[in-house]
Amino acid sequence: MMNYKSGLKKGSPINKAGSFLLKMSVAWLLMLTLFLQPGYAQGLAAQSNEGPYRKGMVVCATPNASQVGIDILKKGGNAVDAAVAVQFALEVTHPEAGNIGGGGFMVYRSASGETNTLDFREKAPAMASENMYLDSAGNVIPDMSLYTHQASGVPGSVDGMVEAHRKFGKLKWTDLVQPAIDLAHNGFKISKRLASALNEERNGFIKLNPGKTYLLKEGGWHEGDLLVQEDLAKTLALIRDKGRDGFYSGVVADQLVEEMKNGKGIITKSDLENYHSVWRKAITGNYKDYKIITMPPPSSGGVALLQLLQSVENYPLHQWGHNQDSTVQLMVEAERRVYADRSKYLGDPDFYKVPVDSLLNPAYNKMRMSSFNWNAATPSASIQPGAFVGYESDQTTHYSIVDSEGNAVSITTTLNDSFGSKIFVGGAGFLLNNEMDDFSSKPGVPNMFGLVGGKANSIQPGKRMLSSMTPTIIEKDGKLFMVVGTPGGATIITSVFQTILNVIDFGQAMQQAVDAKRFHHQWLPDEVAVEKGAMENAEKSRLQQKGYKIIDRGSIGRVDAILITPQGFYEGGADPRGDDTKLGY
Ligand code: GLY
Repeated sequence: MMNYKSGLKKGSPINKAGSFLLKMSVAWLLMLTLFLQPGYAQGLAAQSNEGPYRKGMVVCATPNASQVGIDILKKGGNAVDAAVAVQFALEVTHPEAGNIGGGGFMVYRSASGETNTLDFREKAPAMASENMYLDSAGNVIPDMSLYTHQASGVPGSVDGMVEAHRKFGKLKWTDLVQPAIDLAHNGFKISKRLASALNEERNGFIKLNPGKTYLLKEGGWHEGDLLVQEDLAKTLALIRDKGRDGFYSGVVADQLVEEMKNGKGIITKSDLENYHSVWRKAITGNYKDYKIITMPPPSSGGVALLQLLQSVENYPLHQWGHNQDSTVQLMVEAERRVYADRSKYLGDPDFYKVPVDSLLNPAYNKMRMSSFNWNAATPSASIQPGAFVGYESDQTTHYSIVDSEGNAVSITTTLNDSFGSKIFVGGAGFLLNNEMDDFSSKPGVPNMFGLVGGKANSIQPGKRMLSSMTPTIIEKDGKLFMVVGTPGGATIITSVFQTILNVIDFGQAMQQAVDAKRFHHQWLPDEVAVEKGAMENAEKSRLQQKGYKIIDRGSIGRVDAILITPQGFYEGGADPRGDDTKLGY
């Protein structure tokens, strides 16, 4: 500072420029300090050079589906119209997660603050039974709940879209389904990622679909190849023309039931006719100055997310820093306890009394964290699901959309595994889910995500299997603040948790918060899964010395989110781990 001053004559042009620069630097420093305070993320977001967009934004798993969604918004459709169109476009362009053969959840917030959630999760068929995946010795039959015709729950997505549109839609249904039909009929150029996913599944498709040729290509798929899906286009045309009846009765229902008969599956016509999605009251909670609006059971996601936020709220995460050892340690210990609770208490509320109020009691979560010791990892073996003082008496994908009025939709849907059961409905061209694996086939035996469960999530006819999907909307000062969610099985909850903290506590802009490397702990197995680059080696070894088992793993989650800046601009975060695309206008 001294040198700078002494070397220049007062009043010289250079000095004037220098003093201007000095003032600017001080101003920038002040602004930076301000923006780096927790809660000022909106300010940082406004600094980003995206957009500016304030009329509408769609963030989803493929560029084609994002384009479909933004086109609907530009034509005057609202966020729900765009969601319906995106949902069907993803069926065509994102076959890994579908999803007319699957199900999902929607969290909705209107521009005026009205909230609602729609549960279009799959249901166990009427012929399902508690021990259906066990052999005569009572052991789980490997892969039966995953890659057989009996692995599928009754699909819910088509009913969900019809219901969402009936309640909130503005544009004509047929106009919302048509873009997907065009994509299936005319084809679309596949990405490198989809080409390699399809090539990887080739043997599975052949083995599980004798005589069928869906998604196969002689010589393998390459980036830029055109993928045409004629049977799927016909199915979508029936849904366009007949709505719910185009799927749950008539030709498609016949095809699905025929497929079941051919493969010893148990979904019947009456299962299809009886499927109905359910409007459920959103669960809400506060985190600092923010109101979290999220999915109730049969998702475990909303309850677990609110428990996690309560568990870390009173600690100075911002001061410790993003992905620093203290931050990671605290979050992991919270995750350990919350996933233990998930294993015992979460299930379909229509069949099991889920103690939501007890789990979301701040005193309960504080008590759970009281056994946490900074000097050493708490072994998961020593943590059991909590006991309440008062038990109250009585390959997934996500998209986030905001329209010009400020209506917001957060939807996560799933087939469960990538490409679901990998079994196509012959003649109808779509894949079936293997969501039955999300039930607990046997108490204490882990499912494909390593998650364990018990009675709350046991198989019963007509019951919905527990999910981790966590579509979430956040308000600040009564205004829309963020729309967020992700696929990723058991890691969904912790990915959403981290993304929210990244913005609120660590002051990251939306894209930065989505890009940031992630880690995950789920009680059992007792290990911290860490994305490459998530933590410095020094941070890792400090945790290892305390007894944490750290394992490296591939990408965790694919978060697609939208942040609303204080100026009302929409700032997207599309996950670079996939082909995820944000489009605004
Ligand atoms: N199928 C993954 C989930 O719903 O959590």
